[in-house]
Amino acid sequence: MRKIAMVDLAAQYAQLKPEIDQALGQVLASAQFIKGPEVAAFEQELAAWCRVGHVITCANGTDALQIAFMALGLRPGDEVIVPAFCYVAPAEAAALLGLKPVWADVLPDTFALDPAQVERAITPRTRAIVPVHLFGQGAPMEPLLQLAQQHQLWVVEDNAQAIGATLRLGNGHQAAAGTLGHLGITSFFPSKNLGCYGDGGAVFTNHSDLAQKVRLIANHGQAKQYEHTLVGVNSRLDALQAAVLRVKLRHLNYFIEQRQQAAAYYDTHLGPCAQLQVPARAPYSTHVFHQYTLLLRHAPRNELKDFLANRQVPSMVYYPHPLHLQPAYRQVQGQAQNFPVAERLCQQALSLPMHPNLDPEQRTYVVQQILEFLDAY
Ligand SMILES: Cc1ncc(COP(=O)(O)O)c(C=O)c1O
Repeated sequence: MRKIAMVDLAAQYAQLKPEIDQALGQVLASAQFIKGPEVAAFEQELAAWCRVGHVITCANGTDALQIAFMALGLRPGDEVIVPAFCYVAPAEAAALLGLKPVWADVLPDTFALDPAQVERAITPRTRAIVPVHLFGQGAPMEPLLQLAQQHQLWVVEDNAQAIGATLRLGNGHQAAAGTLGHLGITSFFPSKNLGCYGDGGAVFTNHSDLAQKVRLIANHGQAKQYEHTLVGVNSRLDALQAAVLRVKLRHLNYFIEQRQQAAAYYDTHLGPCAQLQVPARAPYSTHVFHQYTLLLRHAPRNELKDFLANRQVPSMVYYPHPLHLQPAYRQVQGQAQNFPVAERLCQQALSLPMHPNLDPEQRTYVVQQILEFLDAY
């Protein structure tokens, strides 16, 4: 059996090698490494794939969040509501601009922002909400968009983990995750569902005025060289990464199907286990399984992790600490707060190997080890 990895980028490269090598070779021969036709073509192809008006690439997903907040004109002291159970980037990008990240607890089944908790967190200083489409499944956008409209707030969707997920709205409308808010962002970190061979990110929007501002800010605030109309940053996707992403985008639907098949296998065999909970499927979103995350409700999570490691099965805890308890952010809201769902998820969540190249022998082995461990509980 091939060694099991959380994400097997070597196997994916082996599968795509002729296409990737040719694409990289073309960029090397062109010597056009910054901006240029590869980056422009990738932006257009991704916009068409996601059915969104504009895609503006940048250096990484964290930059994309910062650029999005800047483009919305958020000012120091403005409050931005972010999930307490999440990767640090939305809170970090806000804090770097002097904005105040305000936590809201998440839903216990899908781990996305809980609209009722968001409503409780809104104050006269709130300017934006950041729904994060965690682990590959869309957040409940409809109630979050309604709240935003009611309170005149911006919505920045963090779609770093759910590119390709489809959100279903009550009126029958369907949209790609990341395209419903005023702005959406994504990351092309190598292990993401659409990942490059370094760092990369992008901002999505259907608003032309915002698109123009994002593009300006990502490029030193200049539309023309040496003419700076806004204070900006230097944040670029390079042409080699764009070339890799153009190849991978052509296969993204297939990769998502492969992830969904692996998830269905895990569901079938682990779903009946009373000691754990397999990933819930929200009625308002498809799931593209950036992560396949179990909740160990009645068996010790850390012992399972160690047991699996001894059997050569990697697993990961996303995330071990809720953001409101992180030293850098503990004081952010001025008083200690509890977010019981976020705190519980940090104790119980365990993500299993999940990638398009997980073969039947490997996933069978993963399941066998988990079932053997659970026998004792
Ligand atoms: C939810 C979320 N937002 C933002 C980011 C930041 O992306 P990057 O690592 O490209 O800066 C990540 C990356 O892991 C993420 O998972």
